Amino acid sequence: MASKEVLRMGDARLLRIAEEVKEFNTAELHQLLKDMRDTMHAMNGVGLAAPQIGVNLRVVIFEVAGNPRYPEAEAVPQTVLINPRITPLKKKMEEDWEGCLSVPGLRGIVPRYINIRYQGFDEYGNVIDRTVSDFHARVVQHECDHLDGILYPMRMRDLRKLGYTDVLFPGQDIADD
Ligand code: NI
Repeated sequence: MASKEVLRMGDARLLRIAEEVKEFNTAELHQLLKDMRDTMHAMNGVGLAAPQIGVNLRVVIFEVAGNPRYPEAEAVPQTVLINPRITPLKKKMEEDWEGCLSVPGLRGIVPRYINIRYQGFDEYGNVIDRTVSDFHARVVQHECDHLDGILYPMRMRDLRKLGYTDVLFPGQDIADD
C-alpha cells in the first residue's frame, strides 16, 4: 500500500487550478493512480482528485460499490477520468448531503446538476464520454471541482446545513471523514 496523506481544507494546494495531463500511459501516471486508489480505499472514499494528495494534475478517480460511507448509494463504475469536461444537460439542480476526505468529520447540503455529460480520457488516452444522472453525476461534479480549487462548502447556499456527521446523524454508523 502506498496510501498518501490527504490534504485538508486550509491547505493552499487545494485551491490551485490543476494542470492538464499531456502524456498518457506513462510510469508516472500509473504510479499516481496507484497512490490515489490506495489512498481512496484506505479512507473508504467514493472519489479522489490528484490535488488532494498534492499532485496538481487534472486526474480524478471514483468508484461506488457497497461503500460503508454511503451505504444507500447507487453503484458507480470504477473510473479514471483525466482532463475532464462536464456539460450540464438540464438546468435543474438537486440538493443533497456531501462529505469530502479533505473536510473530515463534516457533511453539508450541496446543490448539483442532476443530469450531466462528462468527457475525458482514461490513463491510456482512451476517450470517456458518458451521460449520467443523480448520485453518479454528483460524485463527478464534486471530484472535478477539486481540479478548479473548489471544495464543496464553497458551493453551499446555506451554511446552516453544514455540520458534524455524528451530530447530524446520531446513532448512525457513518464514518466521520
Ligand atoms: Ni472531495
